[in-house]
Amino acid sequence: MARKLIIAANWKMNKGPAETADFIAAFLPSAQALAGECDIVIAPPFVSIPSASALLADSPVALSAQNASEQEKGAFTGEVSTAMLKETGVHHVILGHSERRSIYGEGDQLINAKVKKCLAAGLHPIFCIGETLEERESGKLQEVLRRQVSGGLAGLSNADMSTVVLAYEPVWAIGTGVTATPEQAQEAHAFVRTLVGEQFGKEVAEATRIQYGGSVKPSNSADLMAREDIDGALVGGASLEAESFRDLIANAVA
Ligand code: 13P
Repeated sequence: MARKLIIAANWKMNKGPAETADFIAAFLPSAQALAGECDIVIAPPFVSIPSASALLADSPVALSAQNASEQEKGAFTGEVSTAMLKETGVHHVILGHSERRSIYGEGDQLINAKVKKCLAAGLHPIFCIGETLEERESGKLQEVLRRQVSGGLAGLSNADMSTVVLAYEPVWAIGTGVTATPEQAQEAHAFVRTLVGEQFGKEVAEATRIQYGGSVKPSNSADLMAREDIDGALVGGASLEAESFRDLIANAVA
């Protein structure tokens, strides 16, 4: 099945509103041409979302948040609700990123609650999974992915899954400059697709887009995206400069 590529910029804790506006001004002209072949998503920090939303209106680039609360509203200091994100024009929400898991202690159950909260609000989760180097080297890759997929996507319907994007991000490849080889990534993606198939059936598995993340750059995006089960990228460092993000997408769709 032909799945349209989806390439997303995860800016992490980079770019306030002014830098966000500069990036979008530089990036948008090239985005128009590339968006026919690839869904393009930008995930700025919360405070830059209103500025990005105004600048991306009527453009083919979709807006994502990097997190969302599993709660509805109320006394949750520092949290941002799905309703607030919806109101500011957000379409996607990155959930379960390894930095949220490892630095902020988010577990599968909490991530699952966030996934469900986003779906209830009509937001599209970009649900991240991936193993640490220690887990890979001790032969636990499949066990970890199985736990993350079954836990994070528990209780979802097949209809829910049509709006969920998965992102396989091996932790050892994030921000390290070490990219999984296309073969390593393909092998993990094929396994993740099998897991989705076990949980939701073959048809859902075939339709689900699975991004690769971890040191994706203009020089390796084409090789990675050429693999059968790699349907896009979740990009950190190489998405911070408009030119680099543009080249990365252009090479991926070429
Ligand atoms: P890098 O592209 O900087 O390795 O980051 C990957 C990532 O964590 C995207 O979510």
